[in-house]
Amino acid sequence: MDNAATSYPKPEAVYEAVDRFNRFMGGNPGRGSSRSTLEAGSVVLQTREALAKLFNIGDSSRIAFTCNVTDAINTGLKGILQPGDHVITTSMEHNAVARTLYYLSQQGVEWTAVPCDPQGRLDPEDIRKAIRPNTRMICMLHASNLTGTIMPIEEVGKIARQENVLFMVDNAQTAGILPIDVERACIDLLAFTGHKGLLGLQGTGGLYVRPGLTVKPLRQGGTGSFSEYLEQPELMPDCLESGTLNTPGLAGLLAGVRFIKETGLDTIHQKEQILLEQLIEGLSEIPGVTLYGPSDLKQRTAVLAINVEGMDCGELSLNLDYEFGIITRAGLHCAPLAHQTIGTFERGACRLSPGFFTTQEDIDKVIRSVYQLANRRQ
Ligand code: ALA
Repeated sequence: MDNAATSYPKPEAVYEAVDRFNRFMGGNPGRGSSRSTLEAGSVVLQTREALAKLFNIGDSSRIAFTCNVTDAINTGLKGILQPGDHVITTSMEHNAVARTLYYLSQQGVEWTAVPCDPQGRLDPEDIRKAIRPNTRMICMLHASNLTGTIMPIEEVGKIARQENVLFMVDNAQTAGILPIDVERACIDLLAFTGHKGLLGLQGTGGLYVRPGLTVKPLRQGGTGSFSEYLEQPELMPDCLESGTLNTPGLAGLLAGVRFIKETGLDTIHQKEQILLEQLIEGLSEIPGVTLYGPSDLKQRTAVLAINVEGMDCGELSLNLDYEFGIITRAGLHCAPLAHQTIGTFERGACRLSPGFFTTQEDIDKVIRSVYQLANRRQ
């Protein structure tokens, strides 16, 4: 029940792909021209192309692989924003965005976090109202890692395009679960992670950069290309991919994306919605349990934060794990702004997040376990 932190388990094909790469390929992509190097290069290329298809990206070379989504967000923000620029975000952001913008604000970048309502919902017109003459970018998540609230990225993307402002989306909580089309949503930069809904391994992620846009790299180094020049290559994706990639991880990510394609995004989303509905129905009948996030299920992903009256959220999470073997995440979820928005900054919350492999029996067990713990409270 902690798939918002990292999906578990992975499809069998993901474990197999990583094992196969490590045992039988093992080359370093782009470094030389041995057979194993070329095979590794082909894994990287196929992964780029599979992701490009998933996000409707025309040219897969505009996707640079990163260590994770935080790395991608840092690259997009620090590689574009200059002192004096203004950036707009929301009050539901994860620290991947919030801390990076706070750091940049110390260097002279101006930052506005547009308030969302206590269910984490954003009115896109509030974004428009926050635009100033020096606004360079709107950067926001696609869905909250605390409440699951789905943000109106297509509406905000249109506003960004109309106002000639760059639009960057963090889809850490939605890739592999909700459709994302960079053209439809007018996305200039898309930061994703490989280990959540995309069902790949930790240590994978990437940044899509719209053709024509240049992002300054966070680091320089070997790219396996243009090695005769001391200058960092400007060509994408090399310019943002210095150093050896996590190719075994990308082999796993490729298998994850293929699994999603074979299963169908709709099937994955519908299954998670059924589990969420069952969870919400069951937990809302338990006296003393508070549920957070939108009451309309269509406005959220399968992420549910709860509190039990008279019980610390950490104690609830710990007891669910130790007594019932149910893994959740308690605390502030690296999202203090979001907790402030929904009113749980002081006490935190315990987050339950089923995934595609969670069963309805699992959800029944969660409901029964929370019921027992809630009945036992002081
Ligand atoms: N950002 C991840 C989470 O919400 C790790 O748990």
